Amino acid sequence: MAEMTRWAPDRVAFGGDWNPEQWPVEEWEAQVRALDQAKVNLARVGVFSWSLLQPGPDEWDFAWLDHAMALLHERRIDVVLATSTASPPPWFSRMHPESRVIDERGYRHEIGSRQNWCPSSPVFRQASLTLVRRLAERYVDHPALRMWHTNNELGCHNAECFCEHSATAFRVWLRDRYRTIARLNEAWGARFWSQSYASFDEVAPPAVSTTFSNPTHVLDWRRFCSDALLAQHVAEREVLRDVAPGIPVTTNFMIGTGNSVGRSDYFRWAASVDVVANDHYEVGWDSSEARLHEQRAWSADFTRGVAGGAPWFLMEHAPSGVNWQTVNRTRPPGELRRATMSYLARGADAACFFQLVQSTSGAEKYHSAIVPHAGTDSRAFREACALGEEVARLAEAIGSTVHADTAMLVDWESAWALQHPTMPSNGFEPFDIAKAAHRALTRAGATVDMRHPRDDLSSYRFVVVPGLYLCDDELGDRLEAMARKGARILVTCLSGIADATDRVRGGGYPGAFRRLLGVRGEAFAPLPAGRTVAAVSPEGAGLYQGRFWQEELTADAETEVLARWNDGAWAGQPALTRRSVGSGFAWYLPSIPDPDGFLALARSIRRGAEPSSAPDPFADLVATTDVEVVRRRTGGVEYVFALNHGDIDVTLPALEGRDILTGQSAASWKLRAGDVRVIRTSSS
Ligand code: GLA
Repeated sequence: MAEMTRWAPDRVAFGGDWNPEQWPVEEWEAQVRALDQAKVNLARVGVFSWSLLQPGPDEWDFAWLDHAMALLHERRIDVVLATSTASPPPWFSRMHPESRVIDERGYRHEIGSRQNWCPSSPVFRQASLTLVRRLAERYVDHPALRMWHTNNELGCHNAECFCEHSATAFRVWLRDRYRTIARLNEAWGARFWSQSYASFDEVAPPAVSTTFSNPTHVLDWRRFCSDALLAQHVAEREVLRDVAPGIPVTTNFMIGTGNSVGRSDYFRWAASVDVVANDHYEVGWDSSEARLHEQRAWSADFTRGVAGGAPWFLMEHAPSGVNWQTVNRTRPPGELRRATMSYLARGADAACFFQLVQSTSGAEKYHSAIVPHAGTDSRAFREACALGEEVARLAEAIGSTVHADTAMLVDWESAWALQHPTMPSNGFEPFDIAKAAHRALTRAGATVDMRHPRDDLSSYRFVVVPGLYLCDDELGDRLEAMARKGARILVTCLSGIADATDRVRGGGYPGAFRRLLGVRGEAFAPLPAGRTVAAVSPEGAGLYQGRFWQEELTADAETEVLARWNDGAWAGQPALTRRSVGSGFAWYLPSIPDPDGFLALARSIRRGAEPSSAPDPFADLVATTDVEVVRRRTGGVEYVFALNHGDIDVTLPALEGRDILTGQSAASWKLRAGDVRVIRTSSS
């Protein structure tokens, strides 16, 4: 395998998807001029261009792309060149119907949309790699080429394919994982419902069947599907590195949009890219912009965790409305600036959009753009121009990393296991517990890195384990060792229950963390949506309202019970416990608190986790307003990003430094409603 080439920018990448092929060539120059006016310095080109680049099996046409790249280069706009493999041309899909996706009901998807290819199709793999090689050979020395981009949102529409090629590849994958069919049977608990297999040849993808499929079978299928898509990216990347070594390669992940857990295990994917790139879209119509800002924080913190804390690349976000929700919300004046800045605050060194110029035909013609249908004489374009100016001023912060003191352990495999319809409750989404915890922690003033349970966690003083259903045996010991040295560990319900094969640990819940927490659960008692139960302290103070989950639970003698249920079937049983471990503590939360209750709990735990010499001066402000504060650091310099998503002006704690957006001193600084400031100061 060739060497990795890290992406090392000298300016904050600002730009996004430009699709010149959608326009008469006479309009290209004016479009590029407009992009330049908005300080766009990077364009992603060629994402859906296969049918133009290769109009027939033996026909190739690169002239239009040559011209588009030359126009961009004239204006010093860098190119992220996509490999165009996201959507094969109709002639290919017609000639090779077996390359098209078959869904779980056995229906082969029709031509006429996008991304209709099976990740395990040999003919697709071969044709796509031929295209990648042709592109790489043609543009390897192009002066505008800054980065390669394989495919697009791998698995967005074709995460699963149930065709014969997939079945064959799944069997190969299973053979690699288990070696013998006896081990597979053991891992899947196949004696249950007479499912013992005599050979790998008998195993098929878990398509629609009479009733529930085996949960471990489904879990392995999800793992396989993620690996199959990753294999397409890696195959494309290897061609690019072979022909064009030295040019970074990435692909856009889809972390944190809406409630979707997603179908790719990006912790596994992260090592395959030269910079982690992500697409994020806020979902839903919400009158409070603060909720949208929480969605962005969730996605950005998750992406940064996947990137191991390194700066990352925001490949797509929406200039304003999208086209794929039931009612698509338009950003009101000023929101675009705050949205883009919040990703940059949380560790992105690139702020790119889908899309730069709004299409006038096709399925995305009502998706917003930097240059909307109205043209450059528009609020949207003027806001983009102003934003481009400001983003350019952030160049000095490139490469700085976000200062996070709290880790939250998340894992796609665990989330996939929780999605099986035979769980005690399917009344909430797998990441809902993590999201509730993230929101509470963020409002409590913490900056949270989402990390994989196997990552090195030693730099964090506070570790949260939110509904980590599936995990390795050793995690409990590792967290216990951290607690002994002073760390604070908060574990919530539905954690530690099962091992990697989804086999439940015996002896009581929460299996892997029972010793660490000093509690023992005998039965789960999920609550229906809308039902709450009060958790009260021994003194009778209401601490929180429990939602979604309770447990029949006892605490060991040395474990403190900080709250008990006030009423209902489990009245008097523990609703919050704490065990003292060395110089640290481990809390167990057998439910999901209401937002205010969760915030109060997060604040009290966090206060204790802070070194007493450095209390967080922003904590009260963040907890009581819609202000977001994030710090990026490099060397002895700290950049304090402060964003006011609310409609009330606030005064911020005095800092010694200057606002790098305005040049103003920050000795006494106000943050007006809707405003953003980035203060350069020294890090303590
Ligand atoms: C995805 C795709 C883009 C575009 C946007 C629209 O993220 O990658 O091609 O379709 O959605 O929001």
